[in-house]
Amino acid sequence: MSGTGLDEYHPGLEGVIANETAIANIEGTDGAGGLEYRGYRIEDLAGRVSYEETAFLLLHGDLPNPGQLAEFDRRLKAARAIPDALLTLFKQIPPHVHPMDVLRTSVSVLAHFDPDVDAAPTDHAANVRKAERLTAQMATAVAYRERVRKGLPLVAPRDDLDHAANFLSMVSGKAPSETMREAFDLSLVLYTEHELNASTFSARVTASTLSDLHSAIVAAVGTLKGPLHGGANEEAWKVLEQVGSPDNAEQWIKDALARKERIMGFGHRVYKHGDPRAAILKRSCAALAKEVGDDRWERIAEPIEREVTAQKHLPPNVDWPSARLYHYMGLDIDLYTPIFAMARVAGWAAHVIEQLDHNRLMRPRARYIGPPLREVQPIGKR
Ligand code: ACO
Repeated sequence: MSGTGLDEYHPGLEGVIANETAIANIEGTDGAGGLEYRGYRIEDLAGRVSYEETAFLLLHGDLPNPGQLAEFDRRLKAARAIPDALLTLFKQIPPHVHPMDVLRTSVSVLAHFDPDVDAAPTDHAANVRKAERLTAQMATAVAYRERVRKGLPLVAPRDDLDHAANFLSMVSGKAPSETMREAFDLSLVLYTEHELNASTFSARVTASTLSDLHSAIVAAVGTLKGPLHGGANEEAWKVLEQVGSPDNAEQWIKDALARKERIMGFGHRVYKHGDPRAAILKRSCAALAKEVGDDRWERIAEPIEREVTAQKHLPPNVDWPSARLYHYMGLDIDLYTPIFAMARVAGWAAHVIEQLDHNRLMRPRARYIGPPLREVQPIGKR
C-alpha cells in the first residue's frame, strides 16, 4: 500500500490538514493556541465588535468602516422577513419536533425562495448575498417557530434593534436589558466561527461537489445538532440540573466518570489546555446571574469545573458557560443549539464561499477491513 497514502490512517481525521483557510486560526499566530478571526484575536474582538461587525468581517474579509456597517445593517434588516410558506409550515409541524430539526428544514425551504436561487454555485457575489440573507432569516425562523410551537402571537422584527436584541425581543415579546443584549451579542460573536470543526467541514464537503450554498448550510445544521458538537450546550444544562447542588458535584462527577460517561461541555478535539471562548463567556454568566438575582447555577458550575479538571484534566469548552447564559435569558433548553447555528451561519457561509472560490472535490479514502475476495454463490447454496 505504500505510495498510496492508505497506510496513513487518522481516525476521526485527527491532525489531518484538509484545507487552507484565511478565515480562522485556532493555533494562534505565535503557535501557542487561541482563536483568531481573519487575524484578529478573539479576546480583542470580544466586547468591542458586534455580531453584525463579526459577520461582515467573516463574509467580506475585514472589519467594516461606519458606512459599510450601516449599509450591511440595512441589508440584514431588510432580509429579516421569511416567506409565508415557511410560516405556514411552522404551524403544520408538530410542536414536539426539536427546533434544530425545524431549522434544518427552514434553511432548505428558504433556498427555494432566495432571489439568487438560480445563480451558479460558484457565483461569489450571489453567494455573499445568499449568506447575508440567511444570517438574518435563520434568526427570524428560530424566533417565529418558537412562538408558533408555544401558541403565542408572532412578534415582528424591529428595525430599531440590532441582531441580538431583535432576536430576543422576537422570542420573548420584550426588548432585553442592556446586560442581556450585550451578553447575547457576545455569545453570538464567540459562536460565529471556528475553523474546520465538524459542521464547517461537512458544509465544505457539500460545497466541494459544486452544490449550492443553502445545501451546504443544511448539511452543517444537521452536523451541528449532535451532542459531541453543538448539541453539547443543551446537554451541559442537563448536567447542571442533575448535579443540582454544589455539594453533589464531586460525587456526581466521580460516578459519571466511573460509568465512562462524557461530561458534556468539557473537552475539545483541539483545545487541550482550555477553550478561550469559555473563559470569556464565563464572565458574562456571572454578570447575568447577578442581574437576574440568582447565582445558584454559578455556584453549582464552579465545583463541577473544578472536579472535571481535577479528576479528568478536561477544561470547559464554550458550550459549558453558554448553557447557563441562555438559561438566565429565559430561553428554552432546546433553543440553545439553534442559537449556535444562527450565529455560526456566517462562519459556515464564509467557508462555503472560500471553498467554492478555490474548489477541489473533497474525496478522502477509506482503508478496507472487510472480508477478502470471495466468490458469489448461487442463492440456493448460500
Ligand atoms: N467527559 C469525560 N471524558 C472525556 C470527555 C468528556 N467530556 N472528553 C473526552 N474525554 C475522554 C475520553 O473518554 C477519552 O478518555 P480515555 O482516554 O480514558 O478513553 C479521552 O478523554 C480522549 O477522548 P477523545 O474522544 O479521543 O477526544 P476527542 O478529541 O475526540 O474529544 C470531544 C473531543 C468529542 C469534544 C470530547 O471532548 C467530548 O465528547 N466532549 C463532550 C461533548 C462536548 O462538550 N462537545 C462540545 C465540543 S466544543 C463545540 O463543538 C463547540
